[in-house]
Amino acid sequence: MNTLQRLSCLLLTALLSVAVFGQTKMLITSGNASPTISRHIYGHFSEHLGRCIYDGFWVSDTSTLPRKDRIRLDIVEALKKIKVPNLRWPGGCFADEYHWRDGIGPRKERPKMVNTNWGGVSEDNSFGTHEFLELCTLLNCEPYIAGNVGSGTVEEMAKWVEYLNSDAQSTITDLRKQNGRNEPWRVKLWGVGNESWGCGGNMTVDYYVNEYKRYATYTRNYRNAPLYRIASGANSGDYNWTDVLMKNAADRMWGLTLHYYTVPTGNWGAKGSATSFTEKEYATTMKNCLYMEELVTRHSTIMDKYDPGKKVALVVDEWGVWTDVEPGTNPGFLYQQNSMRDALIAGVTLNIFNNHAERVRVANLAQTVNVLQSIILTKGNQMLLTPTYHVFDLYKVHQDAKLLSINFTSPDYIVDNVKIPAISASASKDSTGAIHISLVNMDANKAVTISTSLFDLQWNKAQGQIITSDKFTDINTFEKPDLIKPQPFNGIRIEQNKVLVTLPKLSVVVLEIKP
Ligand code: AHR
Repeated sequence: MNTLQRLSCLLLTALLSVAVFGQTKMLITSGNASPTISRHIYGHFSEHLGRCIYDGFWVSDTSTLPRKDRIRLDIVEALKKIKVPNLRWPGGCFADEYHWRDGIGPRKERPKMVNTNWGGVSEDNSFGTHEFLELCTLLNCEPYIAGNVGSGTVEEMAKWVEYLNSDAQSTITDLRKQNGRNEPWRVKLWGVGNESWGCGGNMTVDYYVNEYKRYATYTRNYRNAPLYRIASGANSGDYNWTDVLMKNAADRMWGLTLHYYTVPTGNWGAKGSATSFTEKEYATTMKNCLYMEELVTRHSTIMDKYDPGKKVALVVDEWGVWTDVEPGTNPGFLYQQNSMRDALIAGVTLNIFNNHAERVRVANLAQTVNVLQSIILTKGNQMLLTPTYHVFDLYKVHQDAKLLSINFTSPDYIVDNVKIPAISASASKDSTGAIHISLVNMDANKAVTISTSLFDLQWNKAQGQIITSDKFTDINTFEKPDLIKPQPFNGIRIEQNKVLVTLPKLSVVVLEIKP
């Protein structure tokens, strides 16, 4: 944009950013040097926790389901449809107690361990390195492996990387070949520990930063296999953790993580139900979810101080809503249902990540199947797609598209003393020139009409899809799996050079606007 265009754009924004006649004015422009939205923002997470791997992805060897080895193929097909770009594994807390050598070789000979983090159940290690990488191959996605810093050694992690990535001959690469894999997998995304401030070793940041440097040194780049080392980052608002790591090790890392979970009540002792809550609790949950905006902004500002060129990625590799478990289920398995509220949380959070695409380049929803904010739930041979799944389906159009700049002032949604903006939005332009605008209306009672002007963008026709339901507590069940699913959106009107959209209460809409 030249100076004149920028000035008129600013003027237009000022004029348009007020709600007039009940309409919210929105201005979308191509922006200046806008970043690409990395597809890896749409990543997922699969931990050895509850029924995510075992009785989730990985079924019994007598299962009658379509499967490759023991990998459930209906899950694979569903994940391919939403273009899962990367999958994080084996944890989470589990990663810092996982010893990779236990999970290779003949399955019957693999040692068994107690999964002390998650329910104290027996882990038979039948799903290990080869099985995980086979799953990623079937999904056509990047593996993202978290290595063990908490209870492992530098040597153990270094050898795992050699086993995975080296094409030279050595005892360890011979072992890989003996286990059926000649070529290295060349895994790129590599986490150096998980939550090192907590379940990953209860370390101070000053201690971890030195550990990080040691591990980062000996996890080598092998031929044609550069490692993207990702340091274990902050627990939500621990800005000092980010500061110390960036100050001391920014030049040795590809990424730095951030973990933040939306807890409905804000109280970890009584988090709130996944399916039964009042409007006040719903509004509070959305407010807690919107806190991600502040977290990403403030961590990014600290990162900018040491890395103005934005080389280091902010990797939000655990996010989502964390509620009380479903009544009657194992408390250590973290199984929760997924409601219309979850869909709104996913829409809002993904909009935040899109809008911070210059720094947030990987993110992983916790967790893919049967754990926390799942996109898939299973019961025996049955499988259902949750409302959150459908949001990822609609939002996949943003993957690797150019972020567009978006200006608007949202009307408020107020419940008692809880006040939040009703609308969340982000927009991008893909390689074919199609523009996609994702809009969330969090208001539980009112529709909102938005009048969208596209300033310096070519467009001609508009269409859209919507995910909505009457109540924020509505869920898909095994009896009614399609209660909440994408529908064609008929709330679009074209008026002169504007696109008018009426977003029903509690809705996620993705518009496609084409030249
Ligand atoms: O996702 C569940 C757990 O939450 C993970 O294992 C851990 O990293 C986090 O505390």
